[in-house]
Amino acid sequence: MSLFGLPPVWMAPMAGEAASAALVAAVSAGGGFGQLGAAYLPPGRITEVAADIRARTAQPFGINLFCPQAWARDDAALDAYLGHLAPWHAELGLPAPARPAQVEEDFEAQLQATVAARPAVISFVMGDPGAARVAALKAQGFVVLGTATQVSEGLALQASGVDGVIAQGFEAGGHRGGFLGTAEGALIGTMALVPQLVDALDLPVIAAGGIADARGVAAAQALGASAVTVGTAFLLVDECPLSPAYRAALLAAQDADSTLTRAFSGRLARGLANRVTGALDGAALPAFPQPNAASRPMRQAAAKAGRAEFISLWAGQALPVQRAPGAAAALVAALTQGWRA
Ligand SMILES: Cc1cc2nc3c(=O)[nH]c(=O)nc-3n(C[C@H](O)[C@H](O)[C@H](O)COP(=O)(O)O)c2cc1C
Repeated sequence: MSLFGLPPVWMAPMAGEAASAALVAAVSAGGGFGQLGAAYLPPGRITEVAADIRARTAQPFGINLFCPQAWARDDAALDAYLGHLAPWHAELGLPAPARPAQVEEDFEAQLQATVAARPAVISFVMGDPGAARVAALKAQGFVVLGTATQVSEGLALQASGVDGVIAQGFEAGGHRGGFLGTAEGALIGTMALVPQLVDALDLPVIAAGGIADARGVAAAQALGASAVTVGTAFLLVDECPLSPAYRAALLAAQDADSTLTRAFSGRLARGLANRVTGALDGAALPAFPQPNAASRPMRQAAAKAGRAEFISLWAGQALPVQRAPGAAAALVAALTQGWRA
């Protein structure tokens, strides 16, 4: 019996440019399990995008949210960050950077919209949603998942009653999803993390990070994963609406171009090294999500202008393993070949 009655190959939720109804629907319609990274979507957009997915496929899909973050407003640190952005704004022909009016979406309203959209799975990252919230969602029929980057996080999520834990290895593209200790303290590779979580938990573990082809899928299953969730490899499929500059950077990158950076958001994330990650390496930054909102105008303008040196080029270490362009369904089929029923 497959996990939660879903296919074994999932597309990881990816907030930002890849949060597309066409992509999620193509994965689910193509024999995988598509997930929407809804963290940056206002509640009304979550409703619209979910309806768009549903109009495209009758297959189940998931929605993912960032847990609410504890952060303190720090205008001095934010102004110092804006100072770093200022010359790049000038290069892009943008007005001087300004303090953002809003730095994050209203989590409770996002969750309400998510519940109303009736996805098969609601997954959380960057935190523990807590026992009361998990119980309420499970009572409404949702499969509820949390994300762990170390065993202690898996145990905390299990104690909160989640149905399964996503094991996010160090190789994974995008933000580190952990929530205990420091992000640098939990940089455990998928090969090491998955079996430790499988052994420690009485829950299914879904492997994430560095899985890009059938070999990676087979390896994750051999380590005890009950399903796999793949992000980076889906960024280059035909249905993913990536800006041409981001796409070109992904196609050109070598294995050692991958880096961990706080430069764009204030939170540790894996992507391709570029001018911004180099310039802000080691810089003191305001807490996530303040820089994320402050750098958005630069990132959006850079995507339009084809300037990859100013874009957050989130991607995982396995990027070069599988980047032949093609339809999402073809990638799902290729990945699924690695899974033994
Ligand atoms: C562009 C991008 C955006 C991401 N956004 C999210 C997100 O919104 N929520 C989340 O839980 N994980 C997010 N991730 C991490 C993925 O869920 C997953 O852990 C990762 O992609 C797996 O590793 P891989 O990239 O090597 O396949 C993102 C990853 C990428 C590449």
